[in-house]
Amino acid sequence: MKTAIYPGSFDPVTNGHIDIIERASKIFDKVIIAVGDNPEKKPLFTIQERIDMIQDITRNIKNAEVGSFKGLLLDYAKKKDARIIIRGLRAVSDFEFEFQRALLNRKINGDVETVFIMTKEDYVYLNSSIVKEIAMFNGPVKKLVPEIVEKKLKEKF
Ligand code: PNS
Repeated sequence: MKTAIYPGSFDPVTNGHIDIIERASKIFDKVIIAVGDNPEKKPLFTIQERIDMIQDITRNIKNAEVGSFKGLLLDYAKKKDARIIIRGLRAVSDFEFEFQRALLNRKINGDVETVFIMTKEDYVYLNSSIVKEIAMFNGPVKKLVPEIVEKKLKEKF
């Protein structure tokens, strides 16, 4: 049973994240989407709101489940008996940050492998921050996020 963890802030989840989840679900037996509770960040959505949105959007992906974690990702992976971490790669600019994290995680626990999945070219430019910025100024986010997220963003701003 190959269980993979797809961690992230998902504040909020975008079409780019969903693309990675769909791709990962075709490769691994089980994909746990793990919403990170980072005390350093001031998120727009609560952990529960982020979980609810992802659950709603991924309910048709039978081997996907949604959870949240505080603290080290590797501790959560151990708890879930997962030895694979999935990260999406968009552009070269993502590489340095991801490379550092993957290697540090490997140094801490060599049994856990980070696997990178290339995002669909349509979403190369997309991230949660830019979506929030557009939504804050009442701009169109229809093509960038699932419908439920668009609705929730409207409620927030
Ligand atoms: O969507 P993001 O903000 O890129 O997600 C970052 C996340 C949550 C995956 C990352 O911050 C993380 O792994 N946090 C847990 C703390 C941890 O394990 N840090 C050590 C990494 S080497």
